[in-house]
Amino acid sequence: MNIPREFIELLLAKVDIVDLINTQVPLRKKSGSNYFARCPFHNEKSASFSVSQPKQFYYCFGCGAHGNAIDFIIQHERLSFPEAIETLARQVGMEVPHTSGSVKKDDSLPALYEIMTNVTHYYYEQMRKSQRAIGYLKNRGISGKIAKQFSLGYAPTGWSHVLDQFGKTEADKKKLLDTGLIIKKDDGGYYDRFRDRIMFPIHDYRGRIIGFGGRILDQGEPKYLNSPETPLFQKGHELYGLYQAIQINRKLDRVLVVEGYMDVVALFQHEITYAVATLGTATTSHHLQRLMRYTSEIVFCFDGDEAGRTAAWRALQVIFPLMQDNLQIRFLFLPDGEDPDSLIRKEGKPAFEKRLSSALSLSAFFFQILSRQSDLATIEGRARFAASALNYIKQVPAGILPEILVEELAKRARIDASELKNQVKKPEAATTDSFSLPASPQDSARPKLKAPMHMALGLLVQNPSLANLITEPLPRSTLPGHAFLGQLLEIIRQNPAISTASLVEQWKGQKEERFIASLVCWEHLIPETGIQKEFLGAVQQLTLLSMDEEINRLLAKAAQDPLTEEEKQELSQWIAKKKMLSV
Ligand code: GTP
Ligand code: MN
Repeated sequence: MNIPREFIELLLAKVDIVDLINTQVPLRKKSGSNYFARCPFHNEKSASFSVSQPKQFYYCFGCGAHGNAIDFIIQHERLSFPEAIETLARQVGMEVPHTSGSVKKDDSLPALYEIMTNVTHYYYEQMRKSQRAIGYLKNRGISGKIAKQFSLGYAPTGWSHVLDQFGKTEADKKKLLDTGLIIKKDDGGYYDRFRDRIMFPIHDYRGRIIGFGGRILDQGEPKYLNSPETPLFQKGHELYGLYQAIQINRKLDRVLVVEGYMDVVALFQHEITYAVATLGTATTSHHLQRLMRYTSEIVFCFDGDEAGRTAAWRALQVIFPLMQDNLQIRFLFLPDGEDPDSLIRKEGKPAFEKRLSSALSLSAFFFQILSRQSDLATIEGRARFAASALNYIKQVPAGILPEILVEELAKRARIDASELKNQVKKPEAATTDSFSLPASPQDSARPKLKAPMHMALGLLVQNPSLANLITEPLPRSTLPGHAFLGQLLEIIRQNPAISTASLVEQWKGQKEERFIASLVCWEHLIPETGIQKEFLGAVQQLTLLSMDEEINRLLAKAAQDPLTEEEKQELSQWIAKKKMLSV
């Protein structure tokens, strides 16, 4: 599904970022034009979080968080891009239009959600009428209250209850088919997919029902039957129980990832209201990214056997590339033959939570598995151990965690840590521009720039039309930031009406992104009327500096070898040019 670009721009034009942020984080105005607050994205005592009203942009000088109103919602409410757009649109009373290759299908989505809701109600009513279904849930320790909270239901025995009730017209049958509630027979007829099963509706983040899991009451195959992939439902993306967890907890300090529907419900019954289940699949990066928007601690639950360790190791492969410093990951291995459902019923909440708190940390599990694969008593074994560990650690994004892992590795492999650190550092793409940004979010985003370079870049980013004042190409230079300035000028020349926001977008995901964002909220304290003059002055100073470079280069050469005729001419030209510019 695509949201048209024009709509996004319209939406951004309608929202005032200062109002939006102010309702969540009280903003104060200081001397300049920006608003300030203590950053909602990291812990701090001073107010480094700044919001520029004219640019409709925020930037934290402490942690580097930045963006427009949509980015703020994404970061603050932990929503995906489409979710943030919908939230913002609702606030200003706009309807989000969607375009996509299959427009027809999108048109039908509301009708599909509606039928899912109706069928959920139907299953719920059927359960209330079925002593057998009620008895089953009671037997498993599930109260009526919890059953209601999860909208549990019962699909009765028989081949066509849902079909008869909800598929009266061909159009209705099509909807049932599209949502996977009925199955087409070879002879053209249909039958209900779910029969004589306890039904677990699967909600999306907004509480819409997108699929079902159905458990057989007695013995039988398959034990669990899930909705197929439909326009509403993608198995590898969804987490059972997340909606209920978000509903009941204002903030999710911790999320527990388990395997089964019954585990989630049973844990909830015992007041562990932060468990979610993957839907019969291994943990995917989609799952992880979704969870990371809601919590900073994730505990993965696995069986205590070898299969459980293998599954955990596989999860670790998904986790490493997405790891962040503020994210805590643990692995809980269950006693033999137990699952969270059986365990919580046996030992109750306090004992179970104690297990969670003492579960293996990501790094402990990582080294435990790796050290089993090599003999750490020998030099060769330790070398192999280190090489193998480094290969994994390299996948962790830069930050504190890879540093800690390397130090731990050095201790265990008895190798010098600084040696290992060099190996983890990813080779940076070589550029002629020596300008580079620190990777750690704690550092300042400002590269070591000369004052006129910072001035020129900052004013240009905030006022892209200044580029029109530069009619001659910049002389070449090795000054930090010089290549970046050239790129900015080039992009603006190609899109003369480009806004600051679109300019920032051009660097999305690149190493300069944070720096350019910091420029948007940089307070230059130059009055509106003086901006052009200041910009031209800065560019002139830069030009002089690059002329000095040329002159010095030639002079240095002359100190070694005599200059050629050409070089002599070049030198005098530079000196003359510089003189002209300096007057
Ligand atoms: P109970 O027996 O009801 O306690 O369920 P459980 O969650 O303990 O069952 P199990 O550990 O066997 O399965 C865990 C999860 O795997 C379930 O919640 C389902 O999502 C999935 N699953 C289990 N059995 C089947 C099956 O036969 N087919 C499919 N598609 N998924 C299954
Ligand atoms: Mn179970």
